[in-house]
Amino acid sequence: MTGSRDPGVAASRSLMIRTSSPQQTEALGTALGALLRAGDVVALSGELGAGKTIFTRGIAEGAGATGHIASPTFTFIREYHGPVTMFHADLYRIDAPAQLDDLGLEEVLEAGGIVVIEWAEKARALLPPEYLWAELRFTKQDDAREIEFMPRGPRYAELVRQLALGSR
Ligand SMILES: Nc1ncnc2c1ncn2[C@@H]1O[C@H](COP(=O)(O)OP(=O)(O)OP(=O)(O)O)[C@@H](O)[C@H]1O
Ligand SMILES: [Mg+2]
Repeated sequence: MTGSRDPGVAASRSLMIRTSSPQQTEALGTALGALLRAGDVVALSGELGAGKTIFTRGIAEGAGATGHIASPTFTFIREYHGPVTMFHADLYRIDAPAQLDDLGLEEVLEAGGIVVIEWAEKARALLPPEYLWAELRFTKQDDAREIEFMPRGPRYAELVRQLALGSR
C-alpha cells in the first residue's frame, strides 16, 4: 500500500515511527495521549521490555490523566483520573482466556474512559470492533525501538493521520 495515492487507502494505512531513547518513546505516547478522548482504546503489543509501559506513561501525561486511583477491584487494571479517566490494563500474567473473566476488562471497556492495554493479544476476543493497535519492536540498536500503529476503523485512522502530521 505504500505510495498509494488513493486517499481512502492512505488514510487507513499503518504508521511506523522509530524512537532512539525511552524519552522519545514516552514523548510519542504523550503526543498520542493528547489526541485521545474518552472511549478510545489503545492495544499495545510487544516483547518484554519493548517499551509498552513507558509509552503508556506518556499517553497518560498527554491525556492529562495523571492522578492515580488505587483500584482494589481491578488488580491488573490501574485507573488514572484527570479531565478524562484512563484505565491501564497489563495482561502479562494472564495465561488462560478464562482468567480474563475475573479481570473486569469488559466493564472497563464499557466505562467510557480511555483504555490502554499492554499484552493486548491476550484479550483479542474482548476488544471492540474499532481500536488502535500498536506494536513496539526492538531494533539492532539497544536504545531504539520501532513502533507501528495499525488503526482499526475510521476514528483510529484519523488519529494515526494526526499523529503522523505531528511527528514530522
Ligand atoms: N527507545 C526506547 N523506548 C522505550 N524503552 C526503551 C528505549 N530504549 C531503551 N528502553 C528501555 O527499555 C525498557 C522498556 O521498559 P517498559 O517497562 O516500558 O517495557 P514493557 O514493554 O512495558 O515491558 P513489560 O512487557 O515487562 O511490561 C526500559 O528499561 C527503557 O529504559
Ligand atoms: Mg510493561
